[in-house]
Amino acid sequence: MADNAVVKHGDVTQRVGVEVIRARGVDVEKLIKMLVANAAAEFASTYYYYTILRMHLAGHEDYKEICEDARLEDRAHWELIVPRIYELGGELPNDLKVFHDQAGCVAAKLPDPPTAVNILTLLLESERCAIRSWIQICDLTIGKDPRTYDMAARILNEEIEHEAWFIELLAHERDGKSIPSGHFRRGTPGEAPYSKNRDFYNP
Ligand SMILES: [Fe+2]
Ligand SMILES: [Fe+2]
Repeated sequence: MADNAVVKHGDVTQRVGVEVIRARGVDVEKLIKMLVANAAAEFASTYYYYTILRMHLAGHEDYKEICEDARLEDRAHWELIVPRIYELGGELPNDLKVFHDQAGCVAAKLPDPPTAVNILTLLLESERCAIRSWIQICDLTIGKDPRTYDMAARILNEEIEHEAWFIELLAHERDGKSIPSGHFRRGTPGEAPYSKNRDFYNP
């Protein structure tokens, strides 16, 4: 592989960790762009707006509890993605508005009227957008960039679970139908069994 020759001894301006994946066919600049878009979606669109949406599920304490798991796991996703962006030589936009506008998913603003059905529909569609975004990162990195692939696959695992949770809640609330998600309670809120990188970043 050509990556041996690219990074000179003691050079801190280039990264072997980047050159090895470039040598295997990853478009690193495109990958960074996609990761920034996904980070914006996790943080701005999902974590931030979920916080607001969840508050308006008052009186549906069972829905709020599920929503809290999904919300905190999206925060874990955000914290997992950011280091990877910097390792690849990328960075977050310095301007929060610019960052927000690059999000790969539409902002999940509070619907009018803020009924449980409308909120659950929005949450369901946010999870679906996340699944579509993360499978694209998996496709781009499989067999070429094991570190990003592993991260994306772990996040995707949780997004697929989140979709199932909101299908269950929306079917019950809107249609009076039972479509179980097979959900088992997380150990504690924010557990994020796949994506929380406990050994490295989280106390
Ligand atoms: Fe997420
Ligand atoms: Fe999610």
